[in-house]
This record gives sequence, structure tokens and C-alpha cells, in this order.
Amino acid sequence: MYESYYGLNSKPFQLTPDPAFFYASRWHKRAMSYLQYGLSQAEGFIVITGGIGTGKTTIANSLLRDIENDIQAAQIVTPKLTPDELVKMVASKFNLDVEGKSKADILKRLEVYLYELHQQGKRALLLVDEAQNLPLETIEELRMLSNFQENGKPLLQSFLLGQEELQPILRAPNMEQFRQRIVASCHLASLSIEEVKSYIEYRLHHAGREGKSLFSEGAYEQIFTFTRGIPRKINTLMDRVLLFGFLEELELLDERAVATVIEEVKSEMFEPNSVQVSEKDPVENVTPNPEYTANGTEIKDVKYYKTMLGELVEALDDAINHKVRLTQYIDKLLKKKYKTYVRLKDDKE
Ligand SMILES: Nc1ncnc2c1ncn2[C@@H]1O[C@H](COP(=O)(O)OP(=O)(O)OP(=O)(O)O)[C@@H](O)[C@H]1O
Ligand SMILES: [Mg+2]
Repeated sequence: MYESYYGLNSKPFQLTPDPAFFYASRWHKRAMSYLQYGLSQAEGFIVITGGIGTGKTTIANSLLRDIENDIQAAQIVTPKLTPDELVKMVASKFNLDVEGKSKADILKRLEVYLYELHQQGKRALLLVDEAQNLPLETIEELRMLSNFQENGKPLLQSFLLGQEELQPILRAPNMEQFRQRIVASCHLASLSIEEVKSYIEYRLHHAGREGKSLFSEGAYEQIFTFTRGIPRKINTLMDRVLLFGFLEELELLDERAVATVIEEVKSEMFEPNSVQVSEKDPVENVTPNPEYTANGTEIKDVKYYKTMLGELVEALDDAINHKVRLTQYIDKLLKKKYKTYVRLKDDKE
């Protein structure tokens, strides 16, 4: 409706997790690096957690889009599956015939399939989305599946993505065996105010928008305060803001326009009343209270420590990125060497 008015060739703020619109915020980039690192390790579990609507499925879809040919990937979005149902679902996602077969039969077929993949120089990856819905015993079954091995290397690798509730599940005392197989885990936080701004600009640009910004600085602040930097909430709000702008024939969307739309959507989105939209200082408004350590001591110089830890996280991210690139490079080198070796061997024979 508003697309042509704002020079767009598609809707920029759809709710479906479209990898074509993937915006690499600091946290999303980090989660992607972990997943890629996990892929290069070819073993163990990678766990990504994050609040509702922070972009877990988007990350999973982006990873699947970029995955290399030698990896056969399957994605399951699980409701509450029993261990038997999980085995059945995994097998059918790899296109194995499971109809009327017993669990033992399915496991056997799965093992043969994974072994054959391995023989072709390929490997299997299972992406489990909404993993917070998996009962403990089903996660345990997932661990059992990772026991299929050949020459000490697992034949199936799994990534788990889930909401925050996944964390206490994995912390349960009887999950120790699973925990020891986690090679990396990370938590997706919401976007900072600067990231909200570039997220919006990025999506608009990707949908064909050119030229100067549609929003005033104050508008971005309002958007950040209301959505708390959660991408899905940003999308819902932005769609309505653009519609409002179109109906009101606005060329610049300022804080007044955004505040009007927020008032409208607040009740439609069933927002709890505690969400305050301040015009003064939206950043401070999000965390107004002093912060405490686990044993109750107030943390002084919160800003200083946050910045310092932020820098530390960035340095670690760089190190991981570097490691992933190095591992990928070594992998390529080894593959090349192996091919040369096979060729020389064939020539000799
Ligand atoms: N990094 C990102 N780049 C572009 N769009 C994003 C990003 N992260 C999230 N989104 C958008 O936010 C919305 C919610 O994302 P997504 O469905 O991936 O969240 P989720 O964490 O899987 O949510 P849930 O907890 O409900 O499963 C989607 O419209 C998606 O396009
Ligand atoms: Mg999701």
C-alpha cells in the first residue's frame, strides 16, 4: 500500500524470517560466527538462545541458505516431541521412509544413511529450532543420535536454537552428559539504539529505498524505547508507522508521528501498561534501577564496566572470526592436498 509512496519495491518489515533481509547486528554476527565455528568443528552441539522475536529463526535460515554443498542439512521446528517422535521426525527430514517402521528400524536406517553420506564425503546437520519445547528425555535422545560415529567423528551434528527457557533445561543436573558436548553457546540480545537505526535503514534500503532518511533522530529514540530493540516488535511497529505516514502524506516521520502510532498499536499489541514511552531519555528509561551482583552488592560504574565488557566481547568475537576463517582455510588446503594425493596415486597406478 505505502510501498510506491516511499519508493519501495517490496514490504520492508515483513514478519517472516527472510534471510534476504538478514542484518548482522553485533549479536547476530556473533551467533553466526559460533554456528560457523561449530560447522568447522564438525562435532558437538552449538546452542543459541535468545528472547522472543530476537532473530533465532532468521539466523537458522541464513545459515541454511549459505551452507556448503557437502553438508546435508535438515531443520526441525519442534512442538513437544517425545524421544520416539524426534527420531521419526529427524529420519523423515532426511527423506527416509519411516511409515509403519519401529524405532529400532528407523534408527538402523538413519545410521546407514548417515554412514553413506560420510562415504560420499558429506555430513549431516540437524538444526532444531524452538528447542525450549523439547522435553529433557528428547534432548537426551538427541545426544544419543550424536553417538553415531565413524573413525571417532560423529556422523550427525546438531544445533539448538531456543528461547531463554532453554537455558535452565540445559542447566539441569542430569544434563551433564549433554552439556559436555556443547562446543559453543551464545545468547542473542536485543539491538542497541544505534543498531535499531541501522536495522531500519538496512531493511528499507534492501526494499529499494534510496535517498535521505525517512526518520528523525527523535523518531528512532521512540522506536527503540517502545520495542526495546526486539526485531519482531520493530517490524510490527514500522509497518504501521509507514502506513500512517502514507495516509497522512508525510515525507519525514518524526517523533510525533511515531508516538501517535505507538499509542494506536499499544492496545492492539496487548502491551503491558508498564511500557513507558518517554520523550526525554529513552536509553536511561530502559534500565532505570541500580544494578546488583548475584550476592546483592550494588555495582558502581555500571557504564564503565559495560563498555569494558563490550570491548572484551568484541575482541573475543574477532578472535572467533579469525579462528573460523583459519579453520576454513586449513580445511580447504587439506581438501586440495587430498585431491592432489588421489590424483598422483591414480596416475601412478
Ligand atoms: N538479524 C536480523 N536481520 C533481519 N531481520 C531480523 C533479524 N533478526 C530478526 N529479524 C526479524 O525479526 C522478526 C523475528 O525474527 P525471528 O522469527 O527470527 O525471531 P525468533 O527469535 O525466532 O522468534 P521466536 O522466539 O518467536 O521464535 C522477523 O520478521 C525477522 O525478519
Ligand atoms: Mg523462531
